[in-house]
Amino acid sequence: MQARRWLERAQNRAQAWREWRRALHAHPELAYEEQRTAAFVAERLRAFGLEPLEGLAGTGVVAALRGRGGEGPMIALRADMDALPIPEANTFAHASREPGKMHACGHDGHTVMLLAAAELLAADPLFAGTVVFVFQPAEEGGGGARRMVEEGFFERFPVREVYGMHNWPGLPAGQFAVHSGPVMAGTERFRITLRGRGTHAAMPHLGEDVVAAGAALVQALQTVVSRRLDPLQPAVVSVTQFHAGHAFNVIPEEAELAGTVRAFAPTLFARVREELERIGRGVAAAFGLSFRIEWDEGYPPTINTVEEAARCAEAAAALVGEQSVRREEPPSMGAEDFAFFLQHRPGAYVWIGNGEGEGGCLLHSPHYDFNDEILPLGAAYWAMLATRVLAP
Ligand code: NI
Repeated sequence: MQARRWLERAQNRAQAWREWRRALHAHPELAYEEQRTAAFVAERLRAFGLEPLEGLAGTGVVAALRGRGGEGPMIALRADMDALPIPEANTFAHASREPGKMHACGHDGHTVMLLAAAELLAADPLFAGTVVFVFQPAEEGGGGARRMVEEGFFERFPVREVYGMHNWPGLPAGQFAVHSGPVMAGTERFRITLRGRGTHAAMPHLGEDVVAAGAALVQALQTVVSRRLDPLQPAVVSVTQFHAGHAFNVIPEEAELAGTVRAFAPTLFARVREELERIGRGVAAAFGLSFRIEWDEGYPPTINTVEEAARCAEAAAALVGEQSVRREEPPSMGAEDFAFFLQHRPGAYVWIGNGEGEGGCLLHSPHYDFNDEILPLGAAYWAMLATRVLAP
């Protein structure tokens, strides 16, 4: 049984992988600064006999492993390496030693699961084709995947399919969730500037009030999703910043509002842009103000292709049983820059359970920690998926 073999081999290495994971956790690095992590990854890949390409998208590392089972296609397995600018609240021995930085999303675990898979597969490359291990920088807002694509990832590594995995707190350890279709939302960011004549707070009639207008605008924007979009199409508009004024007795000249839009259907973004601009202009005009809005493209929605998602679910089911693979889990409104790889190739991005309760915690929480118990399962999943997709 292939599944049992991978699980046993992974279990035998669990202790070493746990140490790797904790070493990475203690030294988190932010987007595009993953020098130490990338060196750690490249060193181990070389130890497995691979020849890693370093420096793609700054700190990205990529290595290809040819199977000994004959000719076949090339597929990519991808992990992310960056940490977050969050001060860690945990006090255990492997807690962050870098002030203000923390592996609060488990990318330390993702890096080790993929390294571990490279170790397993390099020791037993009985597959037909090539597995490409992709360690990308800057998943957390920096668009590391987009930069890898721009720097020629697909030209250097003409893979047929791309696969990703993220740990999921709240999903029990030992389970997977596989979505056929949308799994993570797309994002856009906006910044609105309202301008008028500032005035003395005691003489509001001599100017215009950007604070009152900004408050009205925040309220009005709540109607974009609730009144202007199809209720069967999920979307979120959140205003997350409102900056105006410095004094008790001055009505300021300018207010700045910023926020984010999230949705799955690409067509919704154009609609939301239109609505935000129309409402923004209308509210600004009602208060006698000028209005400006700037848009920042975030990440596209992460949409798994049906056939590749089915392969992931089958590989997971072979390891943990059909009853431990959730196929009907609702998608997340969070975003993921694996979507940039999926814009170019079919593929799928799965969730591996990080556990429930306190240990499972929440992604991006200062109390979060990756669950080391799932390292062998994650590594076995990658090995299982690669050898099934590239079966000789
Ligand atoms: Ni993450």
